Amino acid sequence: MTAQLNPRGDVAVLVPAAGAGVRLGPGAPKALRLLSGEPLLVHAVRRIAAAGSVHTIVVAAPAGEVEAVRRLLAPVAPVLVVPGGAERQASVAAALAAVPAGPGIVLVHDAARALTPPELVESVAGAVRSGHDAVIPVLPVVDTIKEVGTGEVVLGTVDRSALRAVQTPQGFRRSVLAAAHAAAGDPLTDDAGLVEKQGIPVVCVPGSEYALKITRPFDLALAEHLLAAGA
Ligand code: C5P
Repeated sequence: MTAQLNPRGDVAVLVPAAGAGVRLGPGAPKALRLLSGEPLLVHAVRRIAAAGSVHTIVVAAPAGEVEAVRRLLAPVAPVLVVPGGAERQASVAAALAAVPAGPGIVLVHDAARALTPPELVESVAGAVRSGHDAVIPVLPVVDTIKEVGTGEVVLGTVDRSALRAVQTPQGFRRSVLAAAHAAAGDPLTDDAGLVEKQGIPVVCVPGSEYALKITRPFDLALAEHLLAAGA
């Protein structure tokens, strides 16, 4: 079976989709929750596959769901499906190990960001292609942010102008991500964090409101509305 999309593409996209997703309430693993009748993972993979420079997609599925996820995605796009790990970082490492020879750029994209536009995949990949080792899509922080201590008592107000909310896909030169994972210690929630620990500069590009992480029931309801409106 070939899992190639565009054989001339230079980008592999890893999709960690092995999380339980308890914040959405009880039920299926988060990536398999339905959004307008289709699992979040299907929406996410369809959009990634629409980005022209993507050569390969590797999905890390819940260990007991690998075959089911293969069958689910077969009509959507050619993908490789591997069993994920106990932590997100282990799921990403498993997917990275399955990337075939060829792509020099690797993007890591959460299945939960199901409505991410293909244009964001291309803009992150393009920034890596232009010479950056590590690239993250970000949005400005709109709320005032407080640091709080014991008893929810405010300790101070953080300077919002220097803060960014980070999305995925995060993009890396392949060798940089591989080295960061090889050196990884305690699990982190994002791959750029591992690269930062190596002392490698991580560059921000504009993110997209549509790349919201569908985490809580409210996010699912919002995503349903966005899809109905043509997202
Ligand atoms: O739990 P969290 O929202 O941080 O999960 C982010 C992404 O990482 C989700 O797409 C989830 O499926 C994935 N994940 C994974 N393996 C884990 C935990 C989370 O692939 N063990």
